Amino acid sequence: MQSNQKLINSDKKPIELFQEWFEEAKKSEINDPNAMNLATISSDGKPSSRIVLLKSYNDKGFVFYTNSNSKKGRAIKNNDSVALNFHWKTLQRQIRIEGNVSQISNAEADEYYNSRPLGSRIGAWASLQSEELDDRSTLTKRVEDFEKKFSDNDVPRPSHWNGYLVRPILIEFWQDMPFRLHDRLEFRMENNFWVSRKLYP
Ligand SMILES: Cc1cc2nc3c(=O)[nH]c(=O)nc-3n(C[C@H](O)[C@H](O)[C@H](O)COP(=O)(O)O)c2cc1C
Repeated sequence: MQSNQKLINSDKKPIELFQEWFEEAKKSEINDPNAMNLATISSDGKPSSRIVLLKSYNDKGFVFYTNSNSKKGRAIKNNDSVALNFHWKTLQRQIRIEGNVSQISNAEADEYYNSRPLGSRIGAWASLQSEELDDRSTLTKRVEDFEKKFSDNDVPRPSHWNGYLVRPILIEFWQDMPFRLHDRLEFRMENNFWVSRKLYP
């Protein structure tokens, strides 16, 4: 295991620090360094979380893709407050992000959807994500039906399959340190500027 037990570089903007840590995670994690926990709040105020993949990020925020009719999609429609969490075990680091989520443009979603393998594009049509499935064979049949429907391999993006941008209002960097005296650096958006402070572990 790699040890990174040095204090967080607090001279950087949060997105630059994110980039630095993410690039290191890409080198050290055995798989899915872009896996992040996404927490949402349902219409009756209940939290729910699951892993999704970060597909791009920039100054504006963090983008993932999903089915808008899924449990998370429905929660987001009702409440745009979400939280993300990356935990990179090899680096003993965590990044927590809180913010507001919105759908990206159809053009951007099309671009990413069209870059995916054929099987994944068919899958986006076949899966009624988060709905009850009576039997695996029903899903297999749906896949076959959509393969037939799109036998020319021209598979358009289903309107229920979308990209989402999480615009951060809080980003916290957490680095494991000896004796549980971890290093925490929190950035909070105030009047369009990032304000940072250290937190007790
Ligand atoms: C490593 C990993 C990556 C995943 N990536 C995605 C993703 O990018 N988009 C997605 O919709 N689901 C992804 N999933 C599946 C979700 O965790 C979840 O099972 C699914 O989206 C349904 O969640 P919901 O019922 O809360 O909407 C991933 C799961 C794992 C373990």
